[in-house]
Amino acid sequence: MKLFKLQPEIHKFDKFSEFAEEFGLSDRDVIVVNNSIFDKFIKELDLKSIFISPKKYGNGEPSDEIIDKVLEEASQYEFDRIIAIGGGAVMDIAKFLVLENVSNTLDVFERKIEFNKIKEFIAIPTTCGTGSEVTSFSVAEIKSKGTKMGIGIDEFLPDHAVLIPSLLADIPYKFFAFSTLDALVHAAESFVAPRSNPYTELFAEKAIELILKGYKQISENGKDYYSEIIEDFLIGSNYAGIAFGNTSVGAVHALSYPLGGKYHVAHGECNYEFFTPVFKVYTEIAPEAKIKKFNDLVISVLGLSKDADVYEELDKLLGFIWEKKKLSTFGMEESEILEFTESVIEKQQRLLSNNYVPLDKEQMINIYRNLF
Ligand SMILES: [Fe+2]
Repeated sequence: MKLFKLQPEIHKFDKFSEFAEEFGLSDRDVIVVNNSIFDKFIKELDLKSIFISPKKYGNGEPSDEIIDKVLEEASQYEFDRIIAIGGGAVMDIAKFLVLENVSNTLDVFERKIEFNKIKEFIAIPTTCGTGSEVTSFSVAEIKSKGTKMGIGIDEFLPDHAVLIPSLLADIPYKFFAFSTLDALVHAAESFVAPRSNPYTELFAEKAIELILKGYKQISENGKDYYSEIIEDFLIGSNYAGIAFGNTSVGAVHALSYPLGGKYHVAHGECNYEFFTPVFKVYTEIAPEAKIKKFNDLVISVLGLSKDADVYEELDKLLGFIWEKKKLSTFGMEESEILEFTESVIEKQQRLLSNNYVPLDKEQMINIYRNLF
């Protein structure tokens, strides 16, 4: 069994200008970046590179239609490198530009074509969540199918992951909360996944520690404090990406996809909904195996007493970071409890196979029902 792979070289700079100089950005580079980041950090450098803003083709999380349009725009340029600067959405879109002869995104998701990587790829995160800068994954909404699909191929692995904490200096609180909750779920799902091993565990454990300790500090110092310790979260989400890039994620992500797809609830918020409910069921089903180690880790990081109710304490802390809502408040209908469960069983087997332990239909229905 393959245990561990980390492809990208990891770099850190204080400022974007230092990165631009060291990497010698030129007119042979396509930079995929949305206008808000471009205006704030890049415009002043007056670079000769080619800029593509995915946002002009649609807002929010990526869809196959948006990626098709970005591919079409890029096809008119000659370039050697792709540089993605943004959150998971921008990076997941830019990954498609490394491939030769792709015009239809769905062909890639359905693996209908041969993959040939022909460009160098540099990924620079501006949120602290997806870890996409170190993973081979891309996830997009497939408009014609009304669901999200994910794919992980080695060709999508960035060659360089570049961390520039100052790009996150004034990330809005909401994006901070959603992206770090997503990163916490990546680390937790990786930690208990069947493919978890001493190498991935090293990164997952440290990510959990960085994120939970950061949350604790925020709960003690007030919500504004997050920007003071943003670098811990950037590194934590990168570690979580390294961990789950090797083990993948499981039921928390699987159960959240139908909600995110249908009601456009942010990915991190969706995962937050299902995180502790899924882990509580895991603990009930097989309390003595790896989940015990996870629960003990949380107890130790949060400084709880040995007999503390881990999930009650975790919910309290996470509830301070972001208030958890009932699924019905997002617009979900009661009849969709069954519908969503069936869609997860039908379409998310890729993720369900990474569960700590299998969940049956009844258990998944109960998780949705208790949150409804
Ligand atoms: Fe995620």
